[in-house]
Amino acid sequence: MSLSAADSSLQRGTPQSGQASVTAGLLRRVAGHYPTGVVLVTGPRPAPGQPPPAMVVGTFTSVSLHPALVGFLPAKSSTTWPRIRAAGRFCVNVLGADQQQVCRRFAAADPHRWEVPHRETATGSPLLLDALAWFDCEVAGEAEAGDHWFVTGTVRDLGTGRPGPPLVFLRGGYGHCAEDTDAARSGRPAGPD
Ligand SMILES: Cc1cc2nc3c(=O)[nH]c(=O)nc-3n(C[C@H](O)[C@H](O)[C@H](O)COP(=O)(O)O)c2cc1C
Repeated sequence: MSLSAADSSLQRGTPQSGQASVTAGLLRRVAGHYPTGVVLVTGPRPAPGQPPPAMVVGTFTSVSLHPALVGFLPAKSSTTWPRIRAAGRFCVNVLGADQQQVCRRFAAADPHRWEVPHRETATGSPLLLDALAWFDCEVAGEAEAGDHWFVTGTVRDLGTGRPGPPLVFLRGGYGHCAEDTDAARSGRPAGPD
């Protein structure tokens, strides 16, 4: 899938409207037209010999600069989030377009998921060596948001990795976006500090 692919269910310039009831299925389908990046949120190993908790997340967002906060929304039904919450720390790994298989392995709870090259951050969460960027965080807050939690994390350490396009999730499928921005063309870093 490419982001330039046309969606046959929508005519250009004539957005559909007037649906009578907002069902979960309709909300999921319409919200799927908004592209998100894909991150892997990891937490420290709960005990020696046990695998670290990790979950694929599309709701990651930057929240605040002062203080430095990021956030994401784990479902209340998630079995992974309580394990990360218990540790009070997590690392956000931004996945690249070529890490679709890594993403699928973690989303499917593949027993070989941790064969992907990684190291531990200073706070003990796994950092994928091929992540495009990462944020090592302490849990700052957790607010109820319907059937999800809105979790914020104080960024304790962060960095960028190899260059390349990010993995994107759109309309139920994976894709990538071309970096055709003013900043990419001029070689300038994007945005103010
Ligand atoms: C592209 C993509 C994005 C996802 N985004 C979220 C998310 O933002 N929040 C969430 O709770 N689960 C999200 N999931 C589902 C989780 O990765 C996971 O499957 C779910 O939490 C159930 O697993 P668990 O019970 O082991 O936590 C996403 C899955 C995919 C494939």
